[in-house]
Amino acid sequence: MSLRVEPLTPTIGAEIYGADLSEPADIDAIKNALWAHQVVFFRDQPRLEPQAQIAFANHFGPPHFHPAAPHLEGHPEIFVIYADEHSKVANGNGWHTDVSCDEEPPLATMLQMHQVPSSGGDTLFSSMYAAFETLSQPMQQFLSTLTATHGSEHIYRGRYSDRGVDDAGRNYPSASHPVVRTHPQSGRQALYVNPAFTTRIQGLSADESDALLSMLYQHQQRVEFQVRFKWRPNDIALWDNRCTQHLALWDYWPETRSGHRVTIRGERPYYEAGEHTSRRMKLARKQI
Ligand code: SIN
Repeated sequence: MSLRVEPLTPTIGAEIYGADLSEPADIDAIKNALWAHQVVFFRDQPRLEPQAQIAFANHFGPPHFHPAAPHLEGHPEIFVIYADEHSKVANGNGWHTDVSCDEEPPLATMLQMHQVPSSGGDTLFSSMYAAFETLSQPMQQFLSTLTATHGSEHIYRGRYSDRGVDDAGRNYPSASHPVVRTHPQSGRQALYVNPAFTTRIQGLSADESDALLSMLYQHQQRVEFQVRFKWRPNDIALWDNRCTQHLALWDYWPETRSGHRVTIRGERPYYEAGEHTSRRMKLARKQI
């Protein structure tokens, strides 16, 4: 059966029909759709056994292991997404790209949602290509010369204590990454700072770094860069962490939302100079 890819917005997100991810699928077509749309969604899927979800994710690369989160017993690759009436925090409830504090942050993430609340619990995704491409050229050039520190101690320490994680004596990662990263497949440039992990732009004063990051975070969150996904049980989302950010809304308390997430190991982010701005984005920039 051939795949049908239906874009959800002109900027980001597509639904893919004609694939049952528990069976062999046209991986090249799915990869092409992912590189083009940055996040893809699969509706009406069977609930994947842990091994089947890991096997699908392995087509994109080896697994990435989360430095802090609780995993499924016997499957360290699977991060159990879970929030209910007793939760003190819900994962992903703020704009971020996954684990950017790692030296080699995850390339992509695959999430199957098992239980969804009666309403709410949507996930929003934002295109960091669009965020970069709609900045002025002088700002793009300036940002392309910069690197930033991404930490995680401030996020992860004690975060999962209510789910039985004792992190005494554990060291959490920190890394330096270019503020603009080049996507290895598309060659496009993406803005690569996020409010969860990025703590400082190097070489600037603290005030300058705070002001610049605050301007960039506000810009990244423009609604026209976003797609919003409304989950049904067993839907699957697959996103490219190199060119997107996401936010999982925790607006459903005291209801329960749960699923299984697998991340795929990525490469060290790099910046390579080049003019890769799409024609549509050049137009959008002119209109601002
Ligand atoms: C995450 O991976 O950040 C959570 C996404 C979600 O629960 O929708």
